[in-house]
Amino acid sequence: MKKLIIINGPNLNLLGKREPMIYGSNSFEEFFKKLKNKYADDFQLEYYQSNIEGELINKLHEVGFNYDGIILNAAAYTHTSVGIGDAVKAIETPVVEVHVSNIHAREEFRHVSYIAPNAKGVLFGFGLQGYELALQSFL
Ligand code: DQA
Repeated sequence: MKKLIIINGPNLNLLGKREPMIYGSNSFEEFFKKLKNKYADDFQLEYYQSNIEGELINKLHEVGFNYDGIILNAAAYTHTSVGIGDAVKAIETPVVEVHVSNIHAREEFRHVSYIAPNAKGVLFGFGLQGYELALQSFL
């Protein structure tokens, strides 16, 4: 069975509470439980969240040579972190970049991604469904 992990970056622990007009009103934990059950026959699915850049890099190193896929929403670090971009480049496991909101319809600083050049693909603007679409790309 394929082993996948969803890695969420800073402030995404507040999904459901944070700016619901932009990010929706569902918590990620609830959504994740449903997603994990729905695809239980296809994937061994894990979830990791951190607000700390170095911890996200450590996790990418840890899973990046033995998992089959990574779904990464690095949140604000997407637009700033050369370190996370380099980590995505350094590892072997394919990374699909996801954003809940349409980052290209928002402020210009959100149009830049240090991850996208080394991602297998990028999904943005589909709300939490983007994570499911990313998952399906590994079927
Ligand atoms: C985000 C978009 C980022 O610009 C923002 O900093 C986030 C969330 C998204 O999922 O839409 O925290 O990655």
